[in-house]
Amino acid sequence: MTAPVRSDPAVVKVALDDRGYDIVIGRGVIASLGARIAALRPGAKTFIVTDNNVAERFLAGAEAALAHAGVAASHVIVPPGESSKSYRVFEDVCEAAIASRVERGDLVIALGGGVIGDLAGFVAAVVRRGIDYVQVPTTLLAQVDSSVGGKTAIDSAHGKNLVGAFHQPILVLADTAVLDVLPKREFRAGYAEVVKYGLLGDAAFFSWLEANWSEVFSGGNSSGSFARDHAIAVCCRAKAAIVARDERETGERQLLNLGHTFGHALEAACGFSDRLLHGEAIAAGMALAFEFSARRQGLVPKAEAARAIRHLAEVGLPTSIKDIAGPHPSVDQMMDLIAQDKKVKRGMLTFILVRGIGSAFIETGVDAREVRAFLSEKLAEQ
Ligand SMILES: NC(=O)c1ccc[n+]([C@@H]2O[C@H](COP(=O)([O-])OP(=O)(O)OC[C@H]3O[C@@H](n4cnc5c(N)ncnc54)[C@H](O)[C@@H]3O)[C@@H](O)[C@H]2O)c1
Ligand SMILES: [Zn+2]
Repeated sequence: MTAPVRSDPAVVKVALDDRGYDIVIGRGVIASLGARIAALRPGAKTFIVTDNNVAERFLAGAEAALAHAGVAASHVIVPPGESSKSYRVFEDVCEAAIASRVERGDLVIALGGGVIGDLAGFVAAVVRRGIDYVQVPTTLLAQVDSSVGGKTAIDSAHGKNLVGAFHQPILVLADTAVLDVLPKREFRAGYAEVVKYGLLGDAAFFSWLEANWSEVFSGGNSSGSFARDHAIAVCCRAKAAIVARDERETGERQLLNLGHTFGHALEAACGFSDRLLHGEAIAAGMALAFEFSARRQGLVPKAEAARAIRHLAEVGLPTSIKDIAGPHPSVDQMMDLIAQDKKVKRGMLTFILVRGIGSAFIETGVDAREVRAFLSEKLAEQ
């Protein structure tokens, strides 16, 4: 038997003219952090933002990689979890960055999951009127979604991500080996976003996932097939292409919200708690989007909707409201939450719907009454 071949990292380009950047994907790429930063911004100092869980596992390695290339680094460690996307923690991180004498030419490094990426990216967008930053995403969700595209934000009392900025990173370094120690439930939730790329625009990738998902979960390295790295690269390529065409989400980028209208309502109904992780809510939301599309003038054949839902269920993701533990929201509650998430124009809502696996589209004229009738049916099935 031949030894597994270690492949070179994959490099995906985000084409945004002078703000374009590389996404580097591969096992062990954190070791190249210092050399890559030294090449991109010679002489820059760095300020690492991370959380306790990630610091415990990966901060020393990241700092060693920086030191090895002669890149100066300081850091701040915040508590893990969504609560760190708050004004209070944002203030602490800004003050820590300024205290460490970060200047205009220096860099922020976001070392962590989507929470750290959103928080550190927003800090970088405003400290000293904006400095550059590097994303080192350590969750599957962050590697395939939140670290790419430049959306940064913290939360308001009125809702999630309401205070933020578009600010593109100068490099994304996705070390797929760090996912070996990511809790299984977090990995599975991130996998919902992986499936999303297949469902919204890439039927061949969806079929590939159906056949190879267990390799993606295990890392896929035993056979040298690097299934996990491949899946992450496919997602990053899809997101990079969409972001390059529609950076500010005025059109096509909205497709990335497949499953997110129903999903956000479910997440909010669960109080954004551990009861339902974001990716879990999105899995249920995508299942509902497929069922709603099938019901609505039979946009998608029922069997095809069933196939999409079967794959999500197979990996252990929730695919209906009844899969969520605890008390379920009422139809009124769901409709209120959907209306808060979306502007309702003359009783009409915008949804991402599907004609089939791999062909999502933006529908601006969804009658709120139709959504209500659908959700009433779904809740009655419980
Ligand atoms: N900016 C965007 O475009 C965008 C897109 C999607 C989601 N988001 C945001 O992303 C956030 C969710 O991100 P997330 O799911 O990565 O959550 P997270 O950042 O909270 O990470 C999940 C948990 O895993 C831990 N962790 C991270 N990496 C680890 C590792 N390798 N091993 C062990 N533990 C590890 C973290 O400490 C945390 O406890 C939300 O706030 C959401 O709004 C942003
Ligand atoms: Zn999402």
